[in-house]
Amino acid sequence: MKTAVYPGSFDPITNGHLDVIIRAANVFDKLVVAVLNNANKRPIFTVEERVEFIRESVPKMPSCEIIVTSFDGLLADFAQETGATTVVKGLRAMSDFEYEFQQALANRKMNHRLDTVFLMTSEKYMYLSSSLVREIGRHGGDISDFVPLKIQKRVLEKLSK
Ligand code: COA
Repeated sequence: MKTAVYPGSFDPITNGHLDVIIRAANVFDKLVVAVLNNANKRPIFTVEERVEFIRESVPKMPSCEIIVTSFDGLLADFAQETGATTVVKGLRAMSDFEYEFQQALANRKMNHRLDTVFLMTSEKYMYLSSSLVREIGRHGGDISDFVPLKIQKRVLEKLSK
């Protein structure tokens, strides 16, 4: 069974993330969507909220078991614990590349069995990020094209507080 981990802050999950999840689920037998419990990025949404938002947004996929959970510490260690041998990341633009390249090499150095696979983002989500959603939502803007429908109301409620 081929297991992959898709890590991120997901603060909150966007349609760009969802696109990567669905496409990765067509490639792997099991996909662990892993929310980093990262105090240093000062997330707006709690780790429980971020996990719940993803669980509610992800559709059932017939060919892939999708698990949503959180993790602390190093991704290389978490991947080993979950039996994942692949990290999935979305690539949006060349500006993502250098950082992602460094992360992929560091993760492989720490866990020799761990490879990183990059999925090119769909062009309509090239410019999208969680911080863009947070910024627009905070000012009462329309986030309906950016965030999965099921969670839009709760995301806006918290951002506008
Ligand atoms: N669609 C929309 N947005 C996307 C996207 C996509 N396909 N891909 C990435 N993004 C956004 C993210 O939402 C994030 O937005 P934000 O910065 O505005 O919140 C931004 O692009 C950066 O994404 P990413 O590089 O994946 O960062 P992240 O914070 O979401 O996740 C981890 C980073 C969790 C993967 C990484 O920090 C990690 O593995 N940490 C654990 C510690 C570790 O092992 N470090 C590596 C060894 S040194």
